[in-house]
Amino acid sequence: MRRLENKVAIVTGGASGIGAGMVDLFVQEGAIVVAADINDEALEKASQKENVYGMKLNVASDEEWEAFAKEVNDRFGKIDILVNNAGISSEKPYQEINLDDWQKMLSINGFGPFAGIKHVAPYMAAQNQGSIVNISSYTAQIGQGFNHYSASKGAVRALSKAAATTFGHQGVRVNTLFPGIIETPMTASLSTSKELLGRLIQATPLQRLGKPADIANAALFLASDESSYITGSELVIDGGFSAQ
Ligand SMILES: NC(=O)c1ccc[n+]([C@@H]2O[C@H](COP(=O)([O-])OP(=O)(O)OC[C@H]3O[C@@H](n4cnc5c(N)ncnc54)[C@H](O)[C@@H]3O)[C@@H](O)[C@H]2O)c1
Repeated sequence: MRRLENKVAIVTGGASGIGAGMVDLFVQEGAIVVAADINDEALEKASQKENVYGMKLNVASDEEWEAFAKEVNDRFGKIDILVNNAGISSEKPYQEINLDDWQKMLSINGFGPFAGIKHVAPYMAAQNQGSIVNISSYTAQIGQGFNHYSASKGAVRALSKAAATTFGHQGVRVNTLFPGIIETPMTASLSTSKELLGRLIQATPLQRLGKPADIANAALFLASDESSYITGSELVIDGGFSAQ
């Protein structure tokens, strides 16, 4: 039996990078996967895969989340897994960040996962089981000059714990992954500088950058029933970078 046989999963930001890696692995393991994303073009591509249903969603919208969760539940009869993965990043210097920058970052990266849990957890609670995996970042744990991005990922860390304690008694588990630098379109600019890339690899104990599959494998474990006694937990996947 495959590890997600008969499960219905939602992966936000499922049209690119880490999210796309999770969509592929979850389908391989027997799930029906809704790839939710704001990018129409990428969604259309994602929808061509078997057992993948691309649906448009702006995770920063409370109203869109409410309608989306109902639509998924009506269409597939249940929701077993939610991965809050959609996000944006920024390397803007501290002194240049204004309130608009802050609000945009926190709306997508912070409110997005919050609203996802708010609207999806009740469907999970109704069946007394469900697994939510939130994608934070190693920058929530150590200072790396990412400023408001780090703050938004710190919000993910804290809200995961809050949700784990709020929904645990209804059978809904909530865990958090902290990726290091993973090779995706979000970090594509790094590979344009061979020197910077070399320095980052040198600085990583396991001597390589991460791949979407590194995160997908951990998400698979947390999404599956193999982790049925794990909630409120945190897993860093960064090749040892933040252990130093
Ligand atoms: N790549 C890394 O090194 C790294 C490291 C740590 C954490 N992360 C986190 O992993 C997650 C995925 O990152 P990635 O590297 O795959 O990035 P990516 O840019 O390849 O993919 C992000 C996806 O999110 C979607 N998205 C953006 N805003 C959205 C919105 N408002 N509503 C719905 N979808 C939206 C994009 O369209 C895109 O498909 C992000 O939360 C990111 O912060 C990435």
